[in-house]
Amino acid sequence: MKRTLGTCYYPEHWPEEIWEQDAARMVEAGLTWIRIGEFSWSKIEPTPGDLRWDWLDRAIEVLGQAGLKVVLGTPTATPPRWMIDKHPDMMAVDVDGKPRKFGSRRHYCFSHAGYLEECRRIVGMMAERYGQNPNVAAWQTDNEYGCHDTTISYSDAARVAFRDWLRARYASIDTLNTAWGNIFWSMEYNSFDQIDLPNLTVTEPNPAHVLAFHRFSSDQVVTFNKVQADILRAHSEAPLAHNYMGRITDFDHYDVGDDLEIASWDSYPLGFLEDRVGASPEQQRAYARQGDPDFQAFHHDLYRAVGKGRWWVMEQQPGPVNWAPYNPVPLPGMVRLWSWEAFAHGAEAVCYFRWRQAPMAQEQLHAGLLRPDSADAPAMGEAQQVAREIAEAPEVAHHQAPVALIFDYNAEWMWTVQPHAAGARYFDLVLDTYRALRRAGLSIDIIPPRSEALAGYKAIFAPGLMHMDPALKQALEASDADVVLGPRSAARDQDFCIPTPLPPAIEGLDVTVSRLQSLRPDMPIALNGGGAVKLYLEELEGSAEAFLTTEAGEPVAVSAKGVTYLGGWLDAKAMDRLVLEVAQRAELTITQMPEGIRMRETATEQFLFNHTTETVVHQGHDLPPAGVVRIAL
Ligand code: GAL
Repeated sequence: MKRTLGTCYYPEHWPEEIWEQDAARMVEAGLTWIRIGEFSWSKIEPTPGDLRWDWLDRAIEVLGQAGLKVVLGTPTATPPRWMIDKHPDMMAVDVDGKPRKFGSRRHYCFSHAGYLEECRRIVGMMAERYGQNPNVAAWQTDNEYGCHDTTISYSDAARVAFRDWLRARYASIDTLNTAWGNIFWSMEYNSFDQIDLPNLTVTEPNPAHVLAFHRFSSDQVVTFNKVQADILRAHSEAPLAHNYMGRITDFDHYDVGDDLEIASWDSYPLGFLEDRVGASPEQQRAYARQGDPDFQAFHHDLYRAVGKGRWWVMEQQPGPVNWAPYNPVPLPGMVRLWSWEAFAHGAEAVCYFRWRQAPMAQEQLHAGLLRPDSADAPAMGEAQQVAREIAEAPEVAHHQAPVALIFDYNAEWMWTVQPHAAGARYFDLVLDTYRALRRAGLSIDIIPPRSEALAGYKAIFAPGLMHMDPALKQALEASDADVVLGPRSAARDQDFCIPTPLPPAIEGLDVTVSRLQSLRPDMPIALNGGGAVKLYLEELEGSAEAFLTTEAGEPVAVSAKGVTYLGGWLDAKAMDRLVLEVAQRAELTITQMPEGIRMRETATEQFLFNHTTETVVHQGHDLPPAGVVRIAL
């Protein structure tokens, strides 16, 4: 498949007279895909039942006539104001029991049956009208599920649906009471109808209750998406996508991805830097105009897994955004680097958000490819350069990386429910591991916690899987790859109780977590030979041989027969030592990368990216700031 570019366009924001001219300029810029429609419900249906498709017909026609391909978004992330009059209780309710209000977007509760019906209706009409339109070459369901903290809702509708979900899962209330350990604090229920949502309790609710609510909330997103996917598929052969967001983890993206052909995500490297990446203030300063060198790549690899190989960047930051604490302009060249980085990780398409900067409303200060006066914004030149470069470049090559890293949404919820140390987040543990692998110059596949995903790797890293499905655990124990588990692996059963025999109970590895502690951030525990454990440390009992120990001689990493168990959260230096050890055992070639230089290999190409503000020479290549080197293999 040829690599392509695109943009996000809002014909409803602009006078119709300029659509043709816009389309001609998009073609001239080398763009292929134009995503439209995802927020346009009030323009399609200004009052209930009064449907105005004419403008959308013309917009699609104008874009198609120019030779562009349309990605048509379903408008369900922005129900119009009249919808609230019709369904006053459709808003999501926050943890304090307050309903969200109209006036921005994503103001709906996934569990509201009336709103779901409205979505069926609008998506059905859209699919019937445009399903066979040759200019509609892909679909996007909704927009950024879960963004603005919208997965979890404590509404009445959610409570009713949660009870049904529990009934289906546990069948009898006694089974649920036993599984959750509700005898503790006399929390036993007599019927499913007594179970409330786990907010507004006096002190913390039962972790089993909260975990079940996370799983339920995730399933509600999956169902909501599947309703749309089934309707679209009945009328159209064009592929279906959703645009996920960075570091949104409160629903299982793999499950949503199972119902779509393409995964896509919205990449805002500078927007994410301050409050999503989790980097230190020094790191944020050093990468203020470039973005974190690993955070985007991590999501590229994650969404490649969610899309089972087919993935896009649906929204690429083209200049300053409006929504981060500070919004600097990117270093010249970064828009090109971000685009190429996505292609290096296997993206089929990169679409810039947005075509023209909006003069009105919430995103006035968000750059586009054009300024509000329609002159080219600085990103335009870089997008055009990428368009010229991809025209000459080979097709997207799918390629299995030598190393896999498991990312599990269920583990993320479990760590959130019971972090044990303030600020201990599973996502950060996985990202720390990913960073260490990238510092060693490795290309990585992120994979789901599914046993069928494990084949063909030399090494598999699976940090922090607090609950391990028995099939996955057995598959990892039996894998030919060098497997690294821990900390906290298999530490809870599926209902959040500590199992016996005590964790991690790994076949062939004599190690038991006998005690554990969490550590203040200023109390790391140093290791013999360099590096330290931070935040979380387990005491390991058993005869398995240790290859990392504390200065007091306590084992931190033990291994036998290709399986390593790690009893702590390693800092960067210790993590590098671990990667070196595993690479030697697994016969992986590693290259220590200079600060901010990252490498990615496919079967046919090697890429080097310079995320720093200085020129760096690496392996004989001169890499200027924002430099990209592409080598045919
Ligand atoms: C995304 C969203 C877009 C736009 C963009 C601004 O999260 O999908 O609609 O708001 O952010 O950066």
